[in-house]
This record gives sequence, structure tokens and C-alpha cells, in this order.
Amino acid sequence: MSTPGPAAAHSVTPDLTDLVIRMDGVTVRRGPTVLLDSVDWSVELDERWVVLGPNGAGKTTLLRLAAAEMHPTAGVVHVLGERIGRVALFDLRPRIGLTSANLGIRIPGDEVVSDVVVSAGYGVLGRWRERYDAMDTDRATQLLEQLGMEGFAEREYRTLSEGERKRVLIARALMTDPELLLLDEPAAGLDLGGREDLVSRLSALALDPDAPASVLVTHHVEEIPPGYTHGLLLREGRVVAAGLLDDVLTDANLTETFGVPLSVQRRRRRYSAYLR
Ligand SMILES: Nc1ncnc2c1ncn2[C@@H]1O[C@H](COP(=O)(O)OP(=O)(O)O)[C@@H](O)[C@H]1O
Ligand SMILES: [Mg+2]
Repeated sequence: MSTPGPAAAHSVTPDLTDLVIRMDGVTVRRGPTVLLDSVDWSVELDERWVVLGPNGAGKTTLLRLAAAEMHPTAGVVHVLGERIGRVALFDLRPRIGLTSANLGIRIPGDEVVSDVVVSAGYGVLGRWRERYDAMDTDRATQLLEQLGMEGFAEREYRTLSEGERKRVLIARALMTDPELLLLDEPAAGLDLGGREDLVSRLSALALDPDAPASVLVTHHVEEIPPGYTHGLLLREGRVVAAGLLDDVLTDANLTETFGVPLSVQRRRRRYSAYLR
């Protein structure tokens, strides 16, 4: 299923430079298991996408392709105008900011918060130089402030709450000034207050016209930050629907995606869903 818009309308010769992500007939298989099945998707510069689907739907696999962390088994993936498989993934990665639970658990516990953020600019986990450039530390300080983490710069990562850790990881993902920000279940494991705090910060980021294009993976419609514009619904590796959030988040689409009869509501720019 194609995304509506000029790129899709002229899909014969797509201008890949305007597209942040483009997937054409993308399939990922591991042995007999099909993780993604013929996915077509495009993300434009000013768009903020939510990828929604149940556990095991293939969301993380989709995000890892967009993060240039893996190759498809079949089909073509372009990220930031580069074709995966034709470009050294190592060159592409600094242009992409990624947060995931997998990254969070790889941060050394005794790492100081400012180093967790600043080391992203050097593509490493864990401090490896005695000194970082002043410009980099300034940038890290500014990002920590932006995420409400001023005053935490000298704290050890292991002493932070789950919500504070998530905010540090997002600051880290933004450190390289990426052209694409990928967030894999950023609100997982947070309590209600922590979730709401994160949703409003992600909303501020989404509404900032200077912020990068972003893709946020979740399985809860309640976690969609206002300012996110598009949605892609995944079930068993297949796209159920993709397009503008309000067009895509229908009772029928959510029911098909999650396999239970769901009703979705929108109130004050937030979504909620419950069993019908
Ligand atoms: N290396 C692998 N080999 C076989 N199956 C895998 C592998 N990696 C992931 N899977 C399976 O692929 C499906 C999709 O995984 P994933 O993309 O992580 O889903 P999601 O993030 O939506 O929960 C899951 O059922 C998972 O168990
Ligand atoms: Mg996942």
C-alpha cells in the first residue's frame, strides 16, 4: 500500500531525495518465518509516522531496516536517498537517531549522563576519550535541557528512573543532529505520569518544524503524541493500512490489526481504544 502524496502519485520515477524512507516490496524472512511481507512505504521530510501493531507484528524489524541496521531478504529499501545494500551502512548511521530498549541495556551503568549523550556523536557506547569538543558538550547540555534533564548531567546512568533513562536516550539519539529519528517503544515500562511526560515532550519535538522526520513504534494508541501526522498499521508482517493518522485509525483497521473488536476515540488530539 502506498502513502498518498506526490511521491506515490509519480511512483514511476520517485524523487528519492525528497523521501526520508522508501520501501518497495520489502520482505524479510528468517528461515521459514516471514517477518515482513511485501511492504511498500514512504516517509517524506516533514512527516511524523507512528507504526502500530501487536507484539510480533514486525515493527522492530521495519524500524531496523529504516535504521540501516539490516538488509531486506527481498525488495528495495532507500533511507535518506541512499539504497541499502549499495551504500556502506556505517556512513548512513550518523544521519539516523535511534532509541530502543536494546540500546538502553547496553549503556554501562556507571556511565555519566552527559557522556551517554555526547558519545553518540562519536558512534560509541561508553566514554572512550578523555575530552570531547566543547561544541559537543554544549550541544549535549542543550539537548538534556530540552528534555527536562538539566541538573542530571553528572549523574550515573544506573541511578536514573526508567522515565529519566528514556529521556537521556532520546537526547542521545538527537545528538548527531539526525535527519531521521527512530523511536522503538519509547514509552514502554513507564508509569502513567512518566508516559504522559514523555508523550508531551515527543509532541513538542514533533511540532518543531526544525525537528527531523520521525517514526515512532508503539502498540498503544494512547502513546501517540499530538503532532504525529501519519500511521502505518502492521499485522503479521503485512501493512493493514498506511496514511494520514485520522484516516488510518478507524475501528475496522484497529480491529483487523489487533485481532479483537476495538473501538477508537479521538479527544483533545489524543487517541484511546477499548474493546467493543
Ligand atoms: N532472527 C529471527 N529469527 C526468527 N524469527 C524472528 C527473528 N527475529 C524476529 N523474529 C520474529 O519475527 C516477528 C517480528 O518481530 P519484531 O519485528 O521484533 O516484532 P515487533 O517489534 O512488532 O514485536 C516475531 O514473531 C519474532 O519472534
Ligand atoms: Mg518490537
